[in-house]
Amino acid sequence: MTPPLTLLFSFLIAITMTQLVTFVVTQPQVPCYFIFGDALVDNGNNNALPTVSKANYQPYGIDFPLGVTGRFTNGRTITDIIGQLLGFDNFIPPFANVSNQEIDIGVNYGSAGAGIRDETGRHLGDRFTFNRQILNHATIIARLSLLQRNKTFTQEYLKKCIYVSIIGSDDYINNYLMPNNYPTSRIYTIDQYATTLVRQYSQQLTALYKLGARKIAVFGLGPLGCTPTEIARFGTGGKPCVDLINNASSLYNAKLKPLVGKLNSNFPDARFTFINVTISPSASQQVGPCCQVREDGQCIPNSIPCPDRNLTIFYDGLHPTEITNMGIASRSYNAPSPMDASPYDISGLVQL
Ligand SMILES: *[C@@H]1O[C@H](CO)[C@@H](O)[C@H](O)[C@H]1NC(C)=O
Ligand SMILES: *[C@@H]1O[C@H](CO)[C@@H](O)[C@H](O)[C@H]1NC(C)=O
Ligand SMILES: *[C@@H]1O[C@H](CO)[C@@H](O)[C@H](O)[C@H]1NC(C)=O
Ligand SMILES: *[C@@H]1O[C@H](CO)[C@@H](O)[C@H](O)[C@H]1NC(C)=O
Ligand SMILES: *[C@@H]1O[C@H](CO)[C@@H](O)[C@H](O)[C@H]1NC(C)=O
Repeated sequence: MTPPLTLLFSFLIAITMTQLVTFVVTQPQVPCYFIFGDALVDNGNNNALPTVSKANYQPYGIDFPLGVTGRFTNGRTITDIIGQLLGFDNFIPPFANVSNQEIDIGVNYGSAGAGIRDETGRHLGDRFTFNRQILNHATIIARLSLLQRNKTFTQEYLKKCIYVSIIGSDDYINNYLMPNNYPTSRIYTIDQYATTLVRQYSQQLTALYKLGARKIAVFGLGPLGCTPTEIARFGTGGKPCVDLINNASSLYNAKLKPLVGKLNSNFPDARFTFINVTISPSASQQVGPCCQVREDGQCIPNSIPCPDRNLTIFYDGLHPTEITNMGIASRSYNAPSPMDASPYDISGLVQL
C-alpha cells in the first residue's frame, strides 16, 4: 500500500526538482529589461513611421539571425548583446508591435533620429523623441498593470528591471551640427548646449524614476567626431577625427557623469550608473564605413557591403558594426576599469 505512494511521491519530487533546475538555468538575471534611445538601439520602431531614418532594408541585418528588422547595423545592437549577457533568450520586442504576452520581459522604445530635445531629427521625419518614449513607457505600464491585476505587484516588479538609455548623439549630429536646419548653435555655445541637454535629460530620467525605474544605466556619447559621415561633412584637418565634435561630446559626458551622481543622492532607493562609450579599434580595422553610404550616413539600399564586417568599426556612416557593439556592450556589463562604468557596471546593477 505504501510503496506505490512513496514511488508516486518520489516521482512528483523528481518532476518538481527537474522543473526547478530548468527554471534556474533558463531564468534571466532580472525579470525585465527596458530600452530607451536612438538608432543605436532601434529594433524596428521606425519601420512604420514616415521618416527616411529607418533601416528595414538590405544590407542592414546581413549578420542578424532574423535578417532585416530595422536595426541600424549588420548584426546585433549594443542593447541586444546586453540582453543576452543578462540571460534573456529572446530579443526585447519593439514598442511598435509588442504583444501583451511579451510585455512582462520588457520593451524597446528606441527610435532612430530621436533626441533629448523634441526638435532633434525633425528634418529626417517622424520619430519617437525621448519624451514620447517616456509617454509610451507609461502606456506599457498601464497595460502591464491591467494584466498583472495587482498594482503593488506591478510596482515591485518594475523596480527589479534593468533600464538602459542611449540617447544624445542626434542632439549633436541631427541638431547642433546642422546650422541650416536648426538654430541651436546660434543660441548656445557648445558648453551651454551641453548644460541645457544634461538639464533636460535630468528631468527625463527623473520621470523614468517616477514610473518605477530603479536600476538605470545611462550611456554617454561615443566619439561622434570619428564617424565617417561627420568626417566627410566637416573634414579633420589631417587629424584622425573631427576634434571639435569629439570635444563637444567629451564636454557633454563630463557634465552627464556628475548628473548620475546627483540623481543617486536625490533618490537613495535608486541606482543610476554612467557608461562611458569608448571605441578601441584593433590594428586591422579600417576607419571607413562597411557599406556604401548615402549623404545622410545610411547604407544605400540593396548595395553590397564589405565582405568581412569585423574589419570596420562602422557599418554605415554613423552606426557601429556588431563587432564594435560587442566591445561596448561587454565593457558596460563587465567593466575592466571604473573609467568604463561608474559607480557600477550593469552586472553590478543587477546585484543591487
Ligand atoms: C512585428 O513582429 C513581427 C513578428 O513578431 C515581426 O516579424 C515584424 O518585423 C515586427 N515589426 C516591427 C515593426 O518590428
Ligand atoms: C499583490 O502583490 C503583493 C506584492 O507582491 C502581495 O503581497 C499581495 O498579496 C498581492 N495581493 C493580492 C490580492 O494578490
Ligand atoms: C579639443 O580639445 C583639446 C583638449 O582640450 C584642445 O587641445 C583642442 O584645441 C580642442 N580642439 C578643438 C578643435 O576645439
Ligand atoms: C571615458 O574613458 C576615457 C578613456 O578611458 C577617459 O579618457 C574619459 O575621461 C572617460 N570619460 C568619462 C566621462 O569618464
Ligand atoms: C566576426 O566576429 C564575430 C563575433 O566575434 C565572430 O563570431 C565571427 O566569427 C567573426 N567573423 C570573422 C569572419 O572573423
